[in-house]
Amino acid sequence: MSDETRGLFIAFEGGEGTGKSTQTLKLADALRARGKVVEVTREPGGTPGAEAIRQLLLHPPGDGWGAQAEALLFAAARSDHVAQHIKPSLEKGVWVVTDRFVDSSRAYQGGAGGLGDEAITALHAFGSDGLRPDLTILLEVDEDRLTQRLAERDGGTSDAIGGRSADYHRAVAARFRKLAEADPNGFRIVDGTGTPDEVHNRVLDALADLLGQDGK
Ligand code: TYD
Repeated sequence: MSDETRGLFIAFEGGEGTGKSTQTLKLADALRARGKVVEVTREPGGTPGAEAIRQLLLHPPGDGWGAQAEALLFAAARSDHVAQHIKPSLEKGVWVVTDRFVDSSRAYQGGAGGLGDEAITALHAFGSDGLRPDLTILLEVDEDRLTQRLAERDGGTSDAIGGRSADYHRAVAARFRKLAEADPNGFRIVDGTGTPDEVHNRVLDALADLLGQDGK
């Protein structure tokens, strides 16, 4: 199938509580209203196998995973997601909007987890042919607002990764920004503060060139 009929692949990234899930759904609705066929997915997950790995990652058995095992499990989940879901959909002309993709591994495992970008990029090259989104939207919200949102959303409970220290999450946010600044064509940084509709309008502005007109 020629590139002309291939769907576009858009990823939302950012720390916990930045509004990725809400904005993923809103963008998918907006694209459908423009006549696109759209699938929404998430990571870790998106296929039965990857959802099973998600459980292992977020609720680890025993004492939890070491840094390398954790990175390999995310890469294995992504490999299945790309091969069985994302690539076949894009090839059929479907647009795919995902809540997190490989830049989460680069920011969490590579950045905050200390494994470095080269290791994560190598795993992605092996597992998923290095597939990149056509565009990655990084949602940013300042730390104080995030703490408040997460207390309201999770009531103090979180999974094995969400529950890591404030320093870890600060390192994640810093690495996301560094990745986005290093690749201005591949990323748009969007302010995630305000109402869901306000943020959605910023997302549409950020996508204007991909959508052809003024995006709205
Ligand atoms: P999820 O509940 O989907 O995240 P959120 O709180 O953003 O809604 O849980 C996914 C967790 O996994 C989240 O803490 C980020 C983490 N994660 C990684 O560490 N590396 C990755 O590659 C991915 C995709 C997620």
